[in-house]
Amino acid sequence: MTEDTPTPADFEIFLVAPPGLEALLCDEVREAGFADPQAVPGGVTIMGGWPEVWRANLQIRGASRVLARIGAFRAMHLAQLDKRARKFPWADILRPDVPLKVEVTCKASRIYHAGAAAQRIETALREELGVAISPEAEFKLKVRIDDDLCTISVDTSGESLHKRGHKEAVNKAPMRETLAALFLRQCGYDGTEPVVDPMCGSGTFVIEAAEIAAGLLPGRTRHFAFEQLASFDPAAWDRMRNPAARPHPALRFYGADRDAGAIKMSRANAERAGVTDLVQFATHAISDLMPPEGKPGLVIVNPPYGTRIGNKNLLYGLYAALGQTLLTRFGGWRVGLVTSEPSLAKATGLPFAPPSAPVPHGGLGVQLFQTKALR
Ligand SMILES: C[S@@+](CC[C@H](N)C(=O)[O-])C[C@H]1O[C@@H](n2cnc3c(N)ncnc32)[C@H](O)[C@@H]1O
Repeated sequence: MTEDTPTPADFEIFLVAPPGLEALLCDEVREAGFADPQAVPGGVTIMGGWPEVWRANLQIRGASRVLARIGAFRAMHLAQLDKRARKFPWADILRPDVPLKVEVTCKASRIYHAGAAAQRIETALREELGVAISPEAEFKLKVRIDDDLCTISVDTSGESLHKRGHKEAVNKAPMRETLAALFLRQCGYDGTEPVVDPMCGSGTFVIEAAEIAAGLLPGRTRHFAFEQLASFDPAAWDRMRNPAARPHPALRFYGADRDAGAIKMSRANAERAGVTDLVQFATHAISDLMPPEGKPGLVIVNPPYGTRIGNKNLLYGLYAALGQTLLTRFGGWRVGLVTSEPSLAKATGLPFAPPSAPVPHGGLGVQLFQTKALR
């Protein structure tokens, strides 16, 4: 992949990151060949044009959405907002036949009423572009008025990017694919070692790891909002999203869970993702887990965690059993454990380094605890 050289037509592209993981996402974006990515609170910015927007949506595993900042103008009061919104070159980017909704936020600005500002922009869009405005529309225009500067972005992703498009079956408390990919990266996983998830649920870590090893692009089977923009070029997009297939690696990726229903889901998800030949799933409890033959790699696991005390007490035994199994059978393997509760991580008895800062997930803050290769 070559570095993208900015041109005068380039604009700012913002990749949304899970809070706290901006630097990790920035590393991924840099490695994917995007020029000069910058980690900022809430995400990563790059400069580019529409092909970079498509490629970021298609290729970046850790971003939850990609916004294109298509323009900005100053607006000190509503009449000025109305006038400038009417002059904005909407037709260069938006299609009159694709309904949209407008979301406005105001901060430290003379225009402070988001509803009134949205109404001015919606009227301009309706009357100048001829587009229908609907609160139910899937296509979203995001307007931020900050310090009297009105910045206009389009959400080019549509559905959140953790929806890869080939996963239908989800267990309770699934890990989001975007977060799973960033945690794998944080564990130093680069697609060249085996991965075991002994409590795999719907198989998120195992399938992500297999896709990375096989060079499969995360967005290869789904649709994106940018396909409905005036700037969309279907032929160029088809070429981008169907690169020459590369042979699957000899590595294998392993998932286990004591819940047979979860394993059925994992298998169905792996099949839809096209990685069936790379994965092995088995139904058994943690106490029956054995390391696969061959060189050691990474154990990554997201065991159950509770929010109630009674629930938590039961979990100490489970974490202790997990730790015991790994300490006695998984010499040479590294461990990454994701949990909301440091005392549960401690109950494993595993030699964890200080954990990463909490990342919001399912209403809790989860942390990644990591070991070096176990002895
Ligand atoms: C938080 S979920 C994992 C979610 C998974 N990362 C995903 O993305 O779908 C925890 C899983 O641990 C499994 N589990 C609980 N106790 C277990 C045990 N003793 N042995 C094996 N699996 C267990 C549960 O069935 C559940 O699927």
